[in-house]
Amino acid sequence: MTVAAPTFDLVVVANRLPVDRVVDTDGNNTWQRSPGGLVTALESVMRGRDAAWVGWAGEPGPAPAPFREEGIHLQPVGLSHLEIEEYYEGFSNDTLWPIYHDVIVPATFHRAWWSTYRVVNHRFAQAVADVAAPGATIWVHDYQLQLVPAMVRAIRPDVRIGWFNHIPFPPVELFSQLPWRRALVEGLLGADYLGFQRVADAENFLRTCRRMLHMTTRGDTVTFRGVVDGSAGGEGARETERTVRASAIPISVDFHGLEALARTPEVIARAVEIRKSLGSPETLLLGVDRLDYTKGIGHRLKAYEELLRDKAIAAPGTTLVQVASPSRERVEAYRHLRTEVEATVGRINGEFSAIGEPAVHYLHQSYPRDEMAALFLAADVMLVTPLRDGMNLVAKEYISCRYDLGGALVLSEFAGAWHELHQAYVCNPHDIEGLKHTIMAAIQAPADQRRRRMKALRRRVSDHDVQRWASRYLEALALAPDKPDRPDRHLR
Ligand code: F6P
Repeated sequence: MTVAAPTFDLVVVANRLPVDRVVDTDGNNTWQRSPGGLVTALESVMRGRDAAWVGWAGEPGPAPAPFREEGIHLQPVGLSHLEIEEYYEGFSNDTLWPIYHDVIVPATFHRAWWSTYRVVNHRFAQAVADVAAPGATIWVHDYQLQLVPAMVRAIRPDVRIGWFNHIPFPPVELFSQLPWRRALVEGLLGADYLGFQRVADAENFLRTCRRMLHMTTRGDTVTFRGVVDGSAGGEGARETERTVRASAIPISVDFHGLEALARTPEVIARAVEIRKSLGSPETLLLGVDRLDYTKGIGHRLKAYEELLRDKAIAAPGTTLVQVASPSRERVEAYRHLRTEVEATVGRINGEFSAIGEPAVHYLHQSYPRDEMAALFLAADVMLVTPLRDGMNLVAKEYISCRYDLGGALVLSEFAGAWHELHQAYVCNPHDIEGLKHTIMAAIQAPADQRRRRMKALRRRVSDHDVQRWASRYLEALALAPDKPDRPDRHLR
């Protein structure tokens, strides 16, 4: 007797599963929760629900068998070496990522990458269709899976589909550069609801529908009439008319979970130890980023170097810890960035450090949550200076950990987070002089001003935490314009 595969009422689909494979001390394979922002965000809303997560297990080869982890059904999708190269490193992170981040580095266009992106998106869509219960809610995440909404709809018209973009959505002038722009928009319009980080991102999307594809938009909805291809796997083209809502619904962090972690005696003791091991500096500056050219690490280092040169600050009394976690290391722009950042750190340390007292502590590593919480608690000034960032959860994590109302946040106006966190010390990272002033203002601000600001920031993040974000998202998805997909007729 064959046993039917289990199905679920809520299916989350993201490029990555929320776990990484690790080999324990006895040489056994186990799975460990991965440290990424999305994982942290969704984990807290999936636990205790009848939910599945579809995603790539992070290594090349056939998909491992489905398994359960902390109450969630995990359904792996396999990717070959070539697919990782063309779908993940190529189209997702060397074509879409630069276009969606203001072309800070040029985008690369390859037709073969696009073709693999379609094939892989269809594989994800099929995996979702296989585990979705009748009438299920499907929540698709991010730019790697923009064709999945229409592909799932083509296979399973009974389900409700939402998509959330964790990164910015670009202005129509940049989006138009993509040779596959129409297919990407039509892929998204298979959803019932499209969520974005900022109002400007939702507007960019709606403007793209109107200006580039001549669709009718009304308020925050767009009506799409046309032929949906729906297939990399031959589902068949058909005519359709659908109304889709697109609006801003900014993501957040697990405020209370992070605060509780920061309050543990172990984390508090570790924060004290970190400061001590840095020589008990008067001012500890901290940067925590994936090593990505969007994060403005170079601009931050330049400002720091100039402040040292101007003698506005001096090491080791003022010290910078820069955590730069390894990311997308096979993509050329990321390799180049690493070389540049490490040369700059070397130059600053060569000029401004004494033996045993580096001016910059550079850590090209990833750390577990408790170590990050200790670092946040230890830092006097947190530097979040991206050139473009969908949200930047590090800013919100820092605030969540500062239950003591200590610390100050320097925040770029180009981070999505800035639209909610106006009490931060705001900067334009392109303006090095302005950035230096803002860093100094944060360092020198009277304690009561810093406390007042931190209190306001904490109120915002506590009221708008990730649990609230997820329930608001699912509510918006449930209420999205209930105009049924009208498959008027199937085309041959
Ligand atoms: O911000 C977008 C995002 O895809 C996150 O969801 C993820 O945590 C981060 O970038 C790193 O992505 P990658 O899977 O490429 O390591």
